[in-house]
Amino acid sequence: MDDARYQSLVEDDLNHWVHPLFHSSGHQQPLLIERGEGVYVYGADGTRYIDGLAALWNVAVGHGRAELGEAAAAQMAKLGFNNSYEGYTNEPAIRLAKKVVGLAYPNMQALYFTNSGSEANETNFKAARFYWSRLGRPEKHKIISRVEAYHGNTIAMTTATGMKVFHGNFGPKVPNIINADTPDATPSGGGRIDAGNVLIDNIVATLEREGPDSVAAVIAEPVQGAGGVYPPPPDYFAQLRDVCDRYEVLLIADEVITGFGRTGKWFALEHFDVQPDMMSIAKAITSGYVPMGAAIFSKQVHEVITSDAGGQKFMHAYTNAGHPTAAAVGLRNLQIFEDEGLVENAAARGDQLLSGLQRLSEHPHVGNVRGLGFMCGFDLLEDPETDQPFALEAGMGAKLLKACQSRGLISRVRGDAYLLAPPLVATEAQVDEILNIVEDAVREVTAGV
Ligand SMILES: Cc1ncc(COP(=O)(O)O)c(C=O)c1O
Repeated sequence: MDDARYQSLVEDDLNHWVHPLFHSSGHQQPLLIERGEGVYVYGADGTRYIDGLAALWNVAVGHGRAELGEAAAAQMAKLGFNNSYEGYTNEPAIRLAKKVVGLAYPNMQALYFTNSGSEANETNFKAARFYWSRLGRPEKHKIISRVEAYHGNTIAMTTATGMKVFHGNFGPKVPNIINADTPDATPSGGGRIDAGNVLIDNIVATLEREGPDSVAAVIAEPVQGAGGVYPPPPDYFAQLRDVCDRYEVLLIADEVITGFGRTGKWFALEHFDVQPDMMSIAKAITSGYVPMGAAIFSKQVHEVITSDAGGQKFMHAYTNAGHPTAAAVGLRNLQIFEDEGLVENAAARGDQLLSGLQRLSEHPHVGNVRGLGFMCGFDLLEDPETDQPFALEAGMGAKLLKACQSRGLISRVRGDAYLLAPPLVATEAQVDEILNIVEDAVREVTAGV
């Protein structure tokens, strides 16, 4: 694409499109991505970039997979869409529901299709309330989420999201969705690797303060993703499961990022031998080729919300729930996972990435190297020994992001934390390429500080 065309498109973009997390000042020279292939995407000027965050933890099978387009085209030619309200159904969505539930934790039974991760969480919040209501305990309606969590951006999910940067200017938070605040767990704009016990104590304190008889569920990401890639301590989720059981509240695992192999297992709580009551999934179910998500319910939850006590239906609906074309893409996508061993590859490439980053922590300004499977992060710090961050004005994270991009690697930062979660199809050589770029870029931005 020539520069004149690029400039004209950007002008139209600025005039007519309000993007996510947007102000026009940050959007004067956006990266216009024209095409992709495997782990690579290509800008309008032909520059090749490694997609270091799989287009927002999304494109698991990599870019340019013609098989997914063929699956969509075949389904569209047959039946592009029909509604799936009670009394209607379609084959691809039935098959995908069975497939996904079969891959999920053994206690899972059935799912509700959505179009996004936010909607998956919304569905689980409503299902948790419906569950207690059907058990004759409608006063159990509050939802507890965690500090620095990210659960999406509908108005309810904005409240559930614990990152304060999302809360300004949108009026009061939604009542009865409570962030378990953990003041000392966030010293430098992120979570903290060793804060598990503190966080459990805060969940317990929040439950006690609110009164467990008023709480329906606790929601947690198995690895905090957007908050900065913070895996929990190994015993954290077993403790959280115990707390939920003790206080009779449901545990919702938000696996929108961690689902479908990202952590080297199909679903992340397998690492900790814990089963939630409900799961939220999206993103990699279709590798982002078409939007889709789901709320998955355990046998126990499913039984209660579909039991026919007085004919009260689960009155929750999205027009596009169970979209046949999205489901056909999802089925083909999961076939690729199995044919190409992507979960195993994620585990191997994740080990490689994490140990490469750990070697990088010999660098005087790299600290808190962390990760689980193929999602990793590290912080640029003034002094890693004492966890001392750089001054905010130094903008070290933004500088690193730019230095990586100029070397052909795109990803995201949270403050001064650099995050990595490449497509699950990445090869050993491509992970080495990422590590070399990151090392070079770290040297450049920390030279002379
Ligand atoms: C853990 C988690 N939950 C929910 C969401 C929201 O998903 P969506 O943007 O599809 O609504 C995200 C998005 O990144 C996420 O990371």
